Formats: sequence, structure tokens, C-alpha cells
Amino acid sequence: MIKVLFVCLGNICRSPLAEGIFIDLVVKNQLTEQIQVDSAGTGGWHVGDKPDPRSQKVAHDNGIELTSRARKLQQTDFDEFDYIIGMDRTNVRNINDLVNNSSKSYKTKVHMMREFEQKTGRVRDVEDPYYGGDYGFEEAFRILKHCNQNFLDFLIKEHNL
Ligand code: 4NP
Repeated sequence: MIKVLFVCLGNICRSPLAEGIFIDLVVKNQLTEQIQVDSAGTGGWHVGDKPDPRSQKVAHDNGIELTSRARKLQQTDFDEFDYIIGMDRTNVRNINDLVNNSSKSYKTKVHMMREFEQKTGRVRDVEDPYYGGDYGFEEAFRILKHCNQNFLDFLIKEHNL
């Protein structure tokens, strides 16, 4: 089983959306026996909460229902998961801080979502839409969908799925 964890700050906007989109792709590709998906936040303010209604809406409008509840990233996640995907560089810094001084194998698990956009140059952030309007959520959906498709293609190749 390949275990994938999407991580943002609050675990109510971007990472639940990434999780929902990725689960949808995994189901459509009949890979539920091979790939397991979860999400978490580096901050704990929203633990137990449903995804932000704006994330739920943009997902629903695209045929996806979000069912996750927010939880905080914990150290054991680094043993449990094979791929830990942060949404922006602050997430990635916070993720890596949790395992500071720990084994190098942990850090190789950590990626940034837009690495899978496969554009040249600096990897961009999936910007935090929390304080903005609906457009930011639509933009996040579009980026996450594109990156997740590429990420799944990568997993299929890498693990001969
Ligand atoms: P997310 O967005 O990291 O995409 O879930 C945020 C949600 C809540 C907060 C910040 C970002 N907050 O400060 O409560």
C-alpha cells in the first residue's frame, strides 16, 4: 500500500480539497487497493472541523464530496506515510521542522504539490485561499486537479501500478 498525506496549514481548505480530488482519481483508476490517501494540517486550530464550506462547494460543483475532518500533523505520520505533500513553502518548512535532526529518509518523503506541475524554474506555492473570495478556491481546485493527475501518473510509473 502506498500512503499519501496532503498537508496545509489549517487542514480545512487546500489539503482536504487535494485529498478529495486525489481519492476521486484513485477510485476512477481502480487503485484503491494500492493507494491510501489522507490529509493533515501543521496547525491545530481547526482539529475535528469539516472542510471550509468554500472548499466543499468547489468540490461539489465538480462532482466530489469532501468527507474529511481536520487533524494535526504528527511525528508518527512520517513513519506511516510514503509521500507527504505540502501546499506551500511555509508548510514544507513546518513539516520538516517536525522531524528536524531526524533521519534523511523522512525528508525525502516531503514534497511540494506544484513540483508535479512539471514547469521549469522555481516551484510555486498553492496559495492559501482562506482569507480571500471564491475565486481563490476555484484556482486552488484547478491547480490541485492538474498536479494530482501528474502525481498519480508519477506513482503509476514509479511503483508499476
Ligand atoms: P488551509 O487554509 O491551510 O488551506 O486549510 C487555512 C485555514 C485556516 C487558517 C489558515 C489557513 N487559519 O488561520 O485558521
